[in-house]
Amino acid sequence: MARIPEELVEQILAATDIVDLIGTYFPLKRAGSQFRTLCPFHDEKTPSFYVNPARQSFKCFGCQEGGSAVGFVMAYENLPFPDAIRKLAARANISIQEEAFDPDADRLRRSRARLLELHKGAAEFMHHLLMKDPAAQHGRDYLKSRGFDGEMAKRWTLGWMPENGHVFLDWARKAGFSGRELKDSGLANLKEENNARSGLYVRFRGRLMFPVRDDLANVIAFSGRQLRDDPHSGKYVNSPETAIYKKSKVIFALDQARRSMAKEHCALICEGQIDAIACHEAGITNAVAPLGTAFTTEHARILKRYTDEIILCFDSDGAGHAAVAKAFRELAPQNLNVRAISLPKGEDPDTFIKTFGVDAFRKLMDEAAEFFDYMITHERQQRDLTQAGQLADLGREMASLIAILTDQVTKDTAINHLSTRLGIGTAEFRQAVAKATKEAQRPTRTYDKKDPDAPRNLPPTPLHRSVAALCRHSLQTPQVQEWLCEQTETLMDAIEGREGAHLLLGILAKRPNPASLSSVNAFIDSLPSPDQAALHPLLGEPPAADPLQDAADIVGVLALQSLERRISATEARLRDPHLTPAEMGALFEEIKALQSLIASAKNS
Ligand code: CTP
Ligand code: MN
Repeated sequence: MARIPEELVEQILAATDIVDLIGTYFPLKRAGSQFRTLCPFHDEKTPSFYVNPARQSFKCFGCQEGGSAVGFVMAYENLPFPDAIRKLAARANISIQEEAFDPDADRLRRSRARLLELHKGAAEFMHHLLMKDPAAQHGRDYLKSRGFDGEMAKRWTLGWMPENGHVFLDWARKAGFSGRELKDSGLANLKEENNARSGLYVRFRGRLMFPVRDDLANVIAFSGRQLRDDPHSGKYVNSPETAIYKKSKVIFALDQARRSMAKEHCALICEGQIDAIACHEAGITNAVAPLGTAFTTEHARILKRYTDEIILCFDSDGAGHAAVAKAFRELAPQNLNVRAISLPKGEDPDTFIKTFGVDAFRKLMDEAAEFFDYMITHERQQRDLTQAGQLADLGREMASLIAILTDQVTKDTAINHLSTRLGIGTAEFRQAVAKATKEAQRPTRTYDKKDPDAPRNLPPTPLHRSVAALCRHSLQTPQVQEWLCEQTETLMDAIEGREGAHLLLGILAKRPNPASLSSVNAFIDSLPSPDQAALHPLLGEPPAADPLQDAADIVGVLALQSLERRISATEARLRDPHLTPAEMGALFEEIKALQSLIASAKNS
């Protein structure tokens, strides 16, 4: 990356006021000629952190941390110098030289700024409607029914998108936003793909709107919740990815949480945004949530900037438990210590706090088990560890998780602790971990096209028929791709274990543009050759008459089948003669719950 010239650094610093800058992170109080607040870098009860506008510097007299505006961003966001400078440059609307004369980059920057304005205006407009519009009475009633008041709605700029799309479109036109900008923001879309004259429809009609903000509190997307149960649409609908919104990089409530995350050296990750909000409203201000997506490496890296410990609080079902292990696989390589809370069945942080009070929840946080203890406690309930085979399986799984740890001391501690808890010989267990570590480090073989040694004419990756159809639709039809992306959670369960599932997930992660053959081809060319051989033929097939309906039908059938598979698996576990009555009860409950899911899916 090019060096940033010194004059430019000076120019950026000159355009940055340190009081303004630090003030966007947290409130400052005037103290004579300076400003002061509680130090974000160490724990204290009386403020000894001073910002000096005349010198454009900050200094904490408690911990001696101090420096310029860049120094602050570097320290607080844990960023290297060039990244901190870039951040300040973006804030001051100054383009860094490497990009300065690139008209494309310039256009992009300007269109991003417009999108941010549109999101900001839209959030305020919809907030106003939620608070004041007589037609939004049911929205206000709904919030109240969930124990939230107007102040909460104001703090989070919650809004209401009217059923009638024209209300929003009229506002946007009057505010000077073009149809193109509305489409690019994901707030609206063309009624007919590729027909600019077909008119716009609004994405989130009739929903309670949660603005999604970036770390500097800019609104960059929305998540809309149903106000009435409607099986024909999702409980939540989220913005699609746009020039300003990348799901894998955004964490809900990070802007509100990062200060206390850094102070308490701990972040609480909940599954849903309502949970994160409920925590903040109850005074637990280090709570965040991903946005209906699995936890990514990117998320873990971002959190590592602020904290070294994570408490996971996911649903207490099988999926939630799997999500804990999956999150650990992303968090541990960033050297984040992971603990997890088990909530009583059926509760989430929001309902738990409302039923049992915030003190009870804090107690759960304080007592949250270390990740490995959490796993073993949970697995003990799932398996019969008096059977040698099952114990060995669990040992191997735990070894593969310990293998992820990067710090040797932590690793040794985990090995000793787990071998004792599981009753496996330490030496034997250490060997299993060593083996797992080696396996994890072995590079997975990919076939590079440019690699002369790459095997040619490999047989295509096998594809399950339904998976193939979904791959094809999502490469041919933008709406299907969009829709499938919104269904990721359902979809992951539905296609788990099917041949070629990773290919479909790959398409939905990379999202090549179906309207552009070169985008689709470039995507396919980036894959290992067996995957290419599997996908290429699909493109030649004629598009279905109603691809969206077709995709919805396929996902419906797959989801049903996966529920049925889960029932048989649970029934198999019920046959275990060593189950306690309580465990049997729990399994019966699970089967009943799955059966009612199936019944409701069949009725919709
Ligand atoms: N989610 C989503 N799309 C859905 C369902 C859920 O994007 N169709 C995401 C949302 O971000 C949601 C999170 O997954 O916050 C957790 O979902 P869930 O536990 O079902 O919802 P809650 O957060 O508990 O929301 P509520 O209490 O309003 O039902
Ligand atoms: Mn909930």
